[in-house]
Amino acid sequence: MTNPKRYLVTAALPYANGLKHIGHLAGAYIPADIYARYLRAQKRDVVFVCGSDEHGTAIPIQATKEGTTPQAIIDKYHEAMKQDFEDLSICFDIYHRTSAPLHHETAQEFFTKLNDAGELEVKETEQYYDEEANTFLADRYIKGTCPNCGSDRAFGDQCETCGKSLSPEELINPVSTLSGKSPVKKKTSHWYLPLGKHEAFLKEWILEQHKDDWRTNVAGQCKGWIEGGLQSRAVTRDLDWGIKVPLAEGAGKVLYVWFDAPIGYISATKQWAIDNKKDWKPYWDDEDTKLVHFIGKDNIVFHCIIFPVMLKLHGNILPDNVPANEFLNLEGDKMSTSRNWKLDMRDYINDFVKKENGGGQMVDALRYYLTSIAPETKDSEFTWKGFQTAYRSELSDVFGNFVNRTFVLMHKLCEGKVPRLHTELLDDTDKTMIAAFANTKGEVQSALEYYHFRDGLFQVIELARKGNQYMQKKEPWIVAKKTATDPEAQKLIDNCIYICLQLCANLSIFINPFLPNTAAKMLHMMKVVEKMLDWENAGKTDLLKSGYSLRAPELLFRKMEDSEIELQIEKLKSGSTETKKMEPIKTLAGKPEIVYDDFAKLELKAGTVTACEKVAKADKLLKLEIDLGTEKRTIVSGIALHYKPEEMIGKQVVVVTNLASRKMKGIESQGMILTAEDADGRLQLLKPENMVMPGSSIS
Ligand code: MF3
Ligand code: ZN
Repeated sequence: MTNPKRYLVTAALPYANGLKHIGHLAGAYIPADIYARYLRAQKRDVVFVCGSDEHGTAIPIQATKEGTTPQAIIDKYHEAMKQDFEDLSICFDIYHRTSAPLHHETAQEFFTKLNDAGELEVKETEQYYDEEANTFLADRYIKGTCPNCGSDRAFGDQCETCGKSLSPEELINPVSTLSGKSPVKKKTSHWYLPLGKHEAFLKEWILEQHKDDWRTNVAGQCKGWIEGGLQSRAVTRDLDWGIKVPLAEGAGKVLYVWFDAPIGYISATKQWAIDNKKDWKPYWDDEDTKLVHFIGKDNIVFHCIIFPVMLKLHGNILPDNVPANEFLNLEGDKMSTSRNWKLDMRDYINDFVKKENGGGQMVDALRYYLTSIAPETKDSEFTWKGFQTAYRSELSDVFGNFVNRTFVLMHKLCEGKVPRLHTELLDDTDKTMIAAFANTKGEVQSALEYYHFRDGLFQVIELARKGNQYMQKKEPWIVAKKTATDPEAQKLIDNCIYICLQLCANLSIFINPFLPNTAAKMLHMMKVVEKMLDWENAGKTDLLKSGYSLRAPELLFRKMEDSEIELQIEKLKSGSTETKKMEPIKTLAGKPEIVYDDFAKLELKAGTVTACEKVAKADKLLKLEIDLGTEKRTIVSGIALHYKPEEMIGKQVVVVTNLASRKMKGIESQGMILTAEDADGRLQLLKPENMVMPGSSIS
């Protein structure tokens, strides 16, 4: 097998609408990170890209939930997700975002090229429209009764109660979530990607060319899609949040989020190239590039069918593999954000990584467990007990313990130095141990080349286990009792410790892609530079030179108490998670909380109405003259349906006096008066309980 000239590794762009949980981490980010680190250790040319997916209805919906703007939402979660990945040692070469102008341009160019080549079709359909909000309704914005289970809280894309995916047309009694009114059908036209035209290509490419190297769960899903008949897919939407369709006829429309998001991999590569003075093009158009997408199973159709068709039409390379993972469950149930049954990356970071006792080793603990239970071929399950057991019995008792024993004995029996190797005294046990280095190298390597991360990690732990057995068999601490009488005894001790130390050096190389913080700590103990971790050094038996003095051992993995685990289980069951703390506190009206300074920006005064008349050609408006003590103001107010002009004269009102003035029906309105809406929808003036001096300030 010859290696490709370069690699482009991608991890699914997470939606910037909330914090991400460990299911996401196990599904895409950890395996992608292991792969990228492995390739770097191999000195291969690799770029590992990711970024925030900032379009789609998920964003404005979250903004409504949090009482803020879509822009505020993406800014907040982009930063938060970026930080969380960094805290968990996910080493992207770039973490970009799809709101970047470079991405907008890239996606628009992509659309234009496909459209100009006649590869898109325009179709007119009828879609639900909210006449009150004046907008077409995205599927998520429509609620109604589920035709499947009868729940009255189903959405236009899915019923969350029974899980069935729906189209808005299937909902019984649909209502718009924007206005609460029933929507009407209205004609609209959209651009479609006719996937049916590419069926032969997809069949040949996925089911023939890749029949042996793609995971069966991935190929199986693709086969299902292809055989089920490939429908044309709309690539535009009637929405005001997203990338504008770059055509006059597309005014008011945006690119569908699943059209623009994967192009984000390309724009991220472009930005990386700008930042690093490199050329991005070969990563996307040279056949000698290996493109690998790491994703969770819910993204398969987009990465294996739709995006490849887009790439082909646009003249780019196709992914070589899409090693998608199945789902990770949590303590016996599906992970779910809406039910708050999840472990957010941020919660883990706060509870384990940021603590005094945590840091890198606890990052690695999570990486270890998630890799060891990775849902590579079928769904798997995270349990806190499982986490604790894996941590104790594998990481700590096998790996950590071997390294620790080796260092302790080296200090005790070999004066803190790497001893000499007495080759003439090597026996079969020694030789078998040494042979295992190279064997493991081959095993780990082939596991990682083929995306079997769980297996690869297992091989590393197995090697450490062999190290423990080897030491147990050699018993240098027993041999040490004979050094006074037996001249060969020290030489036998030297050989054992020498081999164990070289094994430690090898283990640091093998574990590095999986647990980079552990590898770094081992480097420190061995007093060697990072370069030793180059993959070409794996299998060698002279990585640490005889006579070289090494540091005292440091515990690689601290103790994990039962109480820590119990606390986590309790937290999960009581639903106290960080995501809640991230949300701004809402007022009853749903607007975000403000501080006093925000309120203090308003200038409110009591005023007395001295004159009032109807505004011509405006049913709802009255023009008021208001005495504010030191000045008079003209204010236009929308209360004409509730108050007659003559009723108003002499009344006191509350006026916002520092509002920028604006023209209404040709009259300049110099402020605003406050009203409250009563149960019948009538406006009631707000006024001081008793008359006050005009111009009195209100606070
Ligand atoms: N945001 C999507 C999700 O979380 C993934 C987008 S992957 C990309 O499911 F390829 F479109 F970027
Ligand atoms: Zn249902």
